[in-house]
Amino acid sequence: MTAAVFSQTVVRGEDGALSVGGCDVRDLAGEHGTPLYIVDEADMRARACAFRDEFAAAFGRHGAKVDVYYASKAFLSSKVARWMRADDLCMDVASGGELEIALRGGMPAARIGLHGNNKSDAELRRALEVGVGRIIVDSFTEIETLDAIARELGTTAPVLVRVTTGVHAGGHEYIATSHEDQKFGLSLASGAAFEALVACHDATGLDLRGIHTHIGSQILSLDAFQESAERMLGLRAAFRVEVGYDLPEVDLGGGYAIRYTPHGEELTPHDAAHGMAEAVAAAVAKVGGTWPHLSIEPGRAIAGPAGMTLYRVGVIKAVRIEDGGERRYVAVDGGMSDNMRTITYGAEYTATIASRLSEAEPVLSRVVGKHCESGDIVVRDVDLPADTARGDLLAVPATGAYGRVMASNYNAVLRPAVVAVRDGESEVLIRRDTLEDLFGWDVAPD
Ligand SMILES: Cc1ncc(COP(=O)(O)O)c(C=O)c1O
Repeated sequence: MTAAVFSQTVVRGEDGALSVGGCDVRDLAGEHGTPLYIVDEADMRARACAFRDEFAAAFGRHGAKVDVYYASKAFLSSKVARWMRADDLCMDVASGGELEIALRGGMPAARIGLHGNNKSDAELRRALEVGVGRIIVDSFTEIETLDAIARELGTTAPVLVRVTTGVHAGGHEYIATSHEDQKFGLSLASGAAFEALVACHDATGLDLRGIHTHIGSQILSLDAFQESAERMLGLRAAFRVEVGYDLPEVDLGGGYAIRYTPHGEELTPHDAAHGMAEAVAAAVAKVGGTWPHLSIEPGRAIAGPAGMTLYRVGVIKAVRIEDGGERRYVAVDGGMSDNMRTITYGAEYTATIASRLSEAEPVLSRVVGKHCESGDIVVRDVDLPADTARGDLLAVPATGAYGRVMASNYNAVLRPAVVAVRDGESEVLIRRDTLEDLFGWDVAPD
């Protein structure tokens, strides 16, 4: 079993079946059905706490404070918000809907940051009415709009300005977010970021708290983070010199890579914390001034490894391919509707038979879904036992992030449930769609 990729409480039992959080996957499948997202609660919370503690230690050595904002876009439910609150994390949300679920889970508004490159007036108004701790502004239009709404409400909006540092990082083009030619942020190079800071500083409805950047996702190299930190500290120093205001906060975003396959690598909280503290220390030494109050926004690195998806194997087909060879297709009862990362980003995953241990010869296989798309691939290439059979349970690890939150009802397929497991108990975090849900939005003809 590819131990390095499954969450910390996953073990293979004497009779060969996997268990997670003390729950046998066969029982979970029996009780909750398949496909099924399974969240290892202990693993997810341990990762959240590791970011909290490693960054507190690495920056604490320099007398600096760090807030960890769990990037809820990776995976969100109100129970998860409750866990993050209990573990003293904050949360970043990227829509009115995410804000409402975070509040429903009991995350104090003051510990919530609202993101978005095109926030609606209603989202901004609601954020001010509930008193979110910070709004990360992303355009001059938003600065004007938010200033007007805040003055109308007789309040001031705590803001950070999202900066495009020009650092190009992050796996796929669609998850790289700080090079010039993309939709997020205000450019450092063109001076737009500096101009926006001045605009926020002068706006009576805004309380300028600092600057934010997020350079991309699934980033392994510390260099990109260090370069980004240096450019952000440089901007802060320039603003201090020209405007005489020391921006209290610097948010360096998320993006820490996780391992998806046995040969994959990850950027651990420890390495990230110490690497980034080093970079900020060097930048402060270079540009002078005080240490800012730091914050980071890990999402994938907290939720990703803690989750797996459990499928039931259906049709198995061997097809002849161009080079005269053969490819074995193993179809499962889910697919791109519960994991769109393979088809969208060409993401790599691995898989294993979870309901039994097989000694049979490995056969290179492609795990595919049940959707009407030949691109409906879950795992592009993985060795599965030759005796893989209809009815077997198959587990795909590291699907905790950008899985359920991006799920769809394509082909009117019902989105799977999410259960959390811990100490032999399972708890539904998000229930499976029902036909009633489908009929709920399908308007029946008169
Ligand atoms: C602003 C912002 N912060 C944090 C994150 C979380 O990134 P990751 O899940 O890679 O840690 C994202 C992801 O897109 C983001 O856009």
